Amino acid sequence: MPDAFYQDNMNIKRIGGYTLQQVAKDVWAIDEFGIDIMYLILGSEKGLLLDTGIGAGNIAAVVKEMTDLPILVVNSHHHYDHAGGNGQFEVVYAHEKAIDTIMEQNNMDMRKAFFASQEARSEYNHEACLKTFINQISNFELKSFVEGHVFDLGNRKLEVIFTPGHTKDSICLLDRVNKLLFSADTVVSTPTLILDTFSDTLRTYQNSLEKLKKLRNEYELIFPGHYLRPIGERYVEDMIECVQNILMNPYIGKEDECHMAKGQVYFYQYKLASVLYTTDRALKKG
Ligand SMILES: [Fe+2]
Repeated sequence: MPDAFYQDNMNIKRIGGYTLQQVAKDVWAIDEFGIDIMYLILGSEKGLLLDTGIGAGNIAAVVKEMTDLPILVVNSHHHYDHAGGNGQFEVVYAHEKAIDTIMEQNNMDMRKAFFASQEARSEYNHEACLKTFINQISNFELKSFVEGHVFDLGNRKLEVIFTPGHTKDSICLLDRVNKLLFSADTVVSTPTLILDTFSDTLRTYQNSLEKLKKLRNEYELIFPGHYLRPIGERYVEDMIECVQNILMNPYIGKEDECHMAKGQVYFYQYKLASVLYTTDRALKKG
């Protein structure tokens, strides 16, 4: 679609190949070429960039074009499609459990392997030339936070909710005043990945979902790290039942394929929710 199409639309912008969509007042979803979605959340004193994508474009320049505010950069979890652009910023914040992995994976071998896997991904829209950015890694300072930390943007506050499951270091950010939950990969439209190679147990994931359910009067819209957005809050309840069914019968899903897992992968859908999982995540206690 030509860039000119977007020029007169106040809610959709094209900057540096990225598509930005205003999804709530002063909240911009930044689609990184179909691969992932970052969020630029603006307050009166500061802005916050949730995730940095794989780093296949100049996300720092996009942020600069959108605002003059000082920016806090936060990773929702360690996965490279959420932290691959960290090197474009001086300081990045992540949950304390994510720190070691994010630092370990900031190397050229990891980046090359990950970029190759993204090139083959069906969601990738080929609007960025991955080869241009594949060699770009830089150092950055990584600072840790824990559950309950509040990122204060002035008139907007974002509270960290620790939600292990998809990974052991996953978080959501909650804006209670505006009733928005930024869920990253903890709640995506479909399916959530709970795999033997990087996830916590399904029981732990269920506990995280129960935590989100208890907070359900605090948010009306959920903004995920991939695919369609926003997601309605009913999805969390469907996901709890979905996970419960898998825990009762780990083989309830249909056999599927996923190159990210070591073992056999199963797909199970219940109402609005679905999970792609390996059975060891359901059988493992804890
Ligand atoms: Fe992820």
